[in-house]
Amino acid sequence: MNILIKDILTLLSDGEKKLKAEVCSVYIKNKKIESINTEPEGFIADKTIHGSGKMLMPGLINAHTHASMTVLRNCADDLLFDEWLFGRIMPLEDKLTGEDNYWATTLAIMEMLRTGTTSYIDMYYFLDDLARAVDDTGMRAVLTRGLIGNADDPEAGAIRMREAIEAYEKWKDHDNISFMLAPHAPYTCDDVFQREVAAEARNLGLGIHTHISEGLVEIDTIRDKYGCTSTELMDKTGLLSNRTVAAHCVQLTDSDIKIMAERGVTIVTNPVSNLKLANGIAPVPKMLKAGINVALGTDGAASNNTLNMFRELAVLSILHKGINHDALAVTAEEALLIATKGGAKAMGRNDLGEIKVGNTADLIILNLETPNMQPINNPISALAYSTNGSEVETVIVGGKILMENKEFTTVDEKKVYHEVSKICERIGTR
Ligand code: NI
Repeated sequence: MNILIKDILTLLSDGEKKLKAEVCSVYIKNKKIESINTEPEGFIADKTIHGSGKMLMPGLINAHTHASMTVLRNCADDLLFDEWLFGRIMPLEDKLTGEDNYWATTLAIMEMLRTGTTSYIDMYYFLDDLARAVDDTGMRAVLTRGLIGNADDPEAGAIRMREAIEAYEKWKDHDNISFMLAPHAPYTCDDVFQREVAAEARNLGLGIHTHISEGLVEIDTIRDKYGCTSTELMDKTGLLSNRTVAAHCVQLTDSDIKIMAERGVTIVTNPVSNLKLANGIAPVPKMLKAGINVALGTDGAASNNTLNMFRELAVLSILHKGINHDALAVTAEEALLIATKGGAKAMGRNDLGEIKVGNTADLIILNLETPNMQPINNPISALAYSTNGSEVETVIVGGKILMENKEFTTVDEKKVYHEVSKICERIGTR
């Protein structure tokens, strides 16, 4: 399908770490951005979108979430981390079936599309059902099976690893789905199991997705058991490399930051989830200064409680200014780059996160004719500070329109709400 997006204010790269906004016409052929401003020879648009009053930008990349946790939204709030996870969330998760995960993930994808996200990195279980939801909706995702394994129950770790590899083998050739291995966290995977996962990832040529240094209890647990930090432990077990995507990293020491930078790890910061679970604030300005690739994630809807990346990127920027007493700590431009190019790098994709010729067409169109977006004095500031996600009108993933004028093209919205409601009734979230 050929799409022409005509005369639209467009967010473009201006060198490696700068952004600019200019009125452009963007020509999309099949999955790719074929040309900008110059009409390709013989191009006949199957669809033309007129850009007056709108803005075009790369789709946002949610680099850490647990999509299926939408069914656990607003059912475990105002609890401290351990009580939240072990007391409330995990017992509910034990009741979820594969089919439940399909509907819960479909709901998550709807929310992500509606608020301008075109790719996400996920960690959960029932990967085959998650992959079906991604396939049916046309979304783009990196799927990972959360792996838990320790000496008390070595067989359980092996079973989960087999599930991860089976899903990878089944779906690895899918255009919109890729995989990583996901040792859940240093407090749920002992050092022996961490080494096994690192070896398997090298063997399969897969990246690593994990949680590191999310809460204060973890710091003490790992120090008592291994006499080091979580980062040092995961470095020793071989899990840290330039193909590692580490979520949270709230409690990093300066020496941990140095290790992360040396290994080329991507850190996914999740400011809203960290604040809501009272885990603290990640040292993002220090990470940026150390040259670390930082990406942005919402974490799951049970700790956020949305999957709205526009809200997340506003919080990211405002938060670090406030606590550092530095209005330049994370600028609007840096926050937007983190939510787009930073996420693309986390996924190992240099064809996403940026509008340029040859890149894959994962794009979103925002309506600027809303009170909170007017007047457009500075489009970059407007995207970072004035949006709330409701401006997103049309979403294109891999050249395919998945939402047009806020209507989903691949999902029956009412059916999803009905199915999710039945799940909540059964597992007891109310
Ligand atoms: Ni998480």
